[in-house]
This record gives sequence, C-alpha cells and structure tokens, in this order.
Amino acid sequence: ADSPSRSGVFQAKTDKRLEAFAESISFDRRMYHQDIRGSIAHADMLCSVGLLTPEEFSTIRDTLREIEAEIEADAFPIRLELEDIHMHIEQALIDRIGDVGRKLHTARSRNDQVSTDVRIWIREALDQVDARLADLQRAFLSRCDRDFDVILPAYTHLQRAQPVIAPHYWLAYVEKLQRDRGRVADCRKRLNECSLGVAAVAGTTLEIDREQTAKALEFDRPTANSLDTSSDRDFMLESAFVLSVIASHLSGWAEEWILWSTVEFDFIKLPQAFCTGSSIMPQKVNPDTLELTRGKSARVMGNLQTLMLLVKNLPLAYNRDLQEDKPPVFDSFDTVIASLELAIPIVEGSELRRESIASRLERGYLDATTLMEWMIRKGMPQRRAHHLVGAIVGEAMERDVPLSELPLEAMQMHAPEIDDSVFEILGSKNAVNAFVSYGSSAPAQVRSQVERWKSQLASS
Ligand code: ARG
Repeated sequence: ADSPSRSGVFQAKTDKRLEAFAESISFDRRMYHQDIRGSIAHADMLCSVGLLTPEEFSTIRDTLREIEAEIEADAFPIRLELEDIHMHIEQALIDRIGDVGRKLHTARSRNDQVSTDVRIWIREALDQVDARLADLQRAFLSRCDRDFDVILPAYTHLQRAQPVIAPHYWLAYVEKLQRDRGRVADCRKRLNECSLGVAAVAGTTLEIDREQTAKALEFDRPTANSLDTSSDRDFMLESAFVLSVIASHLSGWAEEWILWSTVEFDFIKLPQAFCTGSSIMPQKVNPDTLELTRGKSARVMGNLQTLMLLVKNLPLAYNRDLQEDKPPVFDSFDTVIASLELAIPIVEGSELRRESIASRLERGYLDATTLMEWMIRKGMPQRRAHHLVGAIVGEAMERDVPLSELPLEAMQMHAPEIDDSVFEILGSKNAVNAFVSYGSSAPAQVRSQVERWKSQLASS
C-alpha cells in the first residue's frame, strides 16, 4: 500500500480486507512524536543540501508541529486505508501544504523511516527502564540499614542452608539489577546508529548528508550498509532479550516474596495497598501484584520468542513481515515498566516479620557448615570434618535440639578434638559473624557493600 487512491501500476483498488489485515496504525500511532522528529531532521538536511528551500523547510517543519499538536490532543482522524502513522502524517502534510509536502519523502522510504522511528522510540524507552531499575535498586538499598540486624536463612534447593543477614538478600537483587542496567546500556549503544537515508534498500542517487541527520537525531553515526540496515532488527531482539532477563529477575523475586508472605514462611508482610481480597473467603489478603508480575513475565519471554521466529528466515532486505515486530516490543516495554513501577513501592513498603523469623531461625542447622569449617581451621581434612559434622547433626536431630544446645560430650563422642570454644561459632548469630570472605554475608563485608552502593546509586 503506497497511497490511498491507487494509481500508477495499479489498476485495481485495494481490497478492504487487505486494508484491515495490513494496517499498523492501531499500534504504531504511539510513534508519532518520533516520526515527526525524524521528518523535521530529514527536511532540515534536505534544505542543507539544496533539495528544499529554507522557506519550504520552515513550512514543512511548522506544519508537522501543528499536526503533532493535533495528534497529542487526539484531534487527528485515523483512516485505515492510510495504513500506518508515517502515511497518516505525510498525507496530513500534503493535504495542508500541497506540493511542498510532497517533497518531504525525497531520498527516504518508509523502510528507513520506520527503522529510525523505532530506534528513537526504543532508545527513550530504554532510558525509562534504566531509571526505574535504578529506583528499584534504591528501594532495596533503602531497606539495608533498617533490616541490618535481621538474620534470615539462605536456601539452596529451597532447603535451609546457611544464615545470612537481610541486607545480603537485598544487595543480591541490587547486583542483578545492575547487570540488567549494563545490558540496557549495551543495547542502547548498539542501536544508536541512524538508519535514515538508506532509503528503500540500496541508498539514493541524491546527494544527501546522512551525518547531519544522524547528529540531529542524537545518533552516534549513520549505519554503514543500506542492505543490512533495511533488514536489521537486532536492536529489537536485543531489547526484547534485555527485558526478558529483567522480567525473569522480577518473577523470581515475586515468587520468593509470595512464599515469604505465606503462613508457612511468615517472613514478610506485604503492603496491603498492593494486595487484594477474596470475594468468598473473608480472611484473605492475596499477593496479586507479585503473582501478576510473575505471570506477566511469561508474556515478555513469549515476545522474545515471537521476534526470533519473525526474523529467522528473512532474506535481505526489508520484508513486510517486519511490521509484526512492533506489538511484541511495545508490549514487553509496557509490561516491564509497569512491573518495575509496582515493584518499587512493594520493596519499600514491606515489613520483615522479625519475631516470626527469629522464632524458627535455629531450625534447619544453618550453622552446620560453620562447624565443619571450624574443624578445618583446627587442621582436620574437609572430607573428614564433613563426615563428622554429619554425624553430629544426626545426633542433634535425634535429640531434636539445635547444635548450640547439644552437650559438648555428645559432640566429642564423634570428634574428640572439639572443645568448648566451639560454642563461639554455633547458633545463627555466631555463624553469621564467623564469615570473613569477600562477598560473603559477614556483617563487615555487607556493610562495606552497602556503603559502596550508597555512593554508586546516589549519582545514578
Ligand atoms: N507499516 C509498515 C511497518 O510498520 C511500513 C512499512 C513500509 N514498507 C513497505 N515497503 N511497505 O513496517
């Protein structure tokens, strides 16, 4: 579809069914600002190289701004036969200023136009994602001081493993989100080349200045190969991937806090403003926001799959299949941004159930590994220490007591080398304080990591 009223090589009118099948205005309308910005930069460049007069350029620019204001005010009629936002805007321009408007599409095709618009749109969206990731990092960080004295079980295989302090948990998420931000920045860097001016597929015989357009639109440089550019959707795949990793981090966190909020765990109280009740069970406070965060992550991952399948068999260069790229990308951004915006107040507003956590902290032998390492420090080979502590834990289980309440003699029956200084490292609190390695849950280690993040996140 090149124009609403068919002519030229076409002798038949477009079938109405094709119009409805082929339109993209229903989802690409949201790129109107990027489209107009790109068109003004393009027209400015056409003027610099003598393809438009300064008067023609200012007429085009001013009319495009007028059209933009109307779209913003929702005073702009949508016509399916105009297919997409690009043709809607160009047609409106032509309707208003005639032949001058007909010059805008000089040395440009919708192929490079769409690619540029999407790049600008994604670039802005990535910046929004980054800002929200930073806010979520700050939300986790803000909990660190207030929860510093809380000891939680760390789990492997969802079985109690070793004791950690609560801020060690919070900073685990800060680290994951930092890698997400790294991926966002990396993706942004690679997409930041300007496709405008590759025209349909092979470039143009007109002497345009692609450097100028690239610079005006804040791209680092123009793309170097018109065939590649016309087909390239790597930046959409990459953003969908980056968003999938974020969604996976949010989903894992949501799952964890859903578990933690159950009667069975009773580790955390979620802010009620982000929970809902039941229509039949009066006592219920359900963690719907977290469940939906977990559930919606499936959409984000599915969108990545959709995009991979969309591009995998396409020969060079532009193929109309590529129109299908935008709904999944937009949906992934919308979903992840909304999920991040809800995660922030939940992280800030949840309360650890300190008494409940403490009341069961000495169940599960969180200090068994600490005891084993204490014996290693006394000179015992690790395999032997592991075996003996296993036997000691077995003994404690039989008596149904934590290690710190097992009599010294009972331990010595298994390992005569144990003396009563062992009680300095038994119990979750002692065990946490016994950590020393870099990156461990040693309070001094965690403290210095908290301070590092405070200064790092103060600026970004
Ligand atoms: N509406 C289309 C899209 O969103 C524009 C592509 C135009 N190119 C073409 N040769 N028909 O991708």
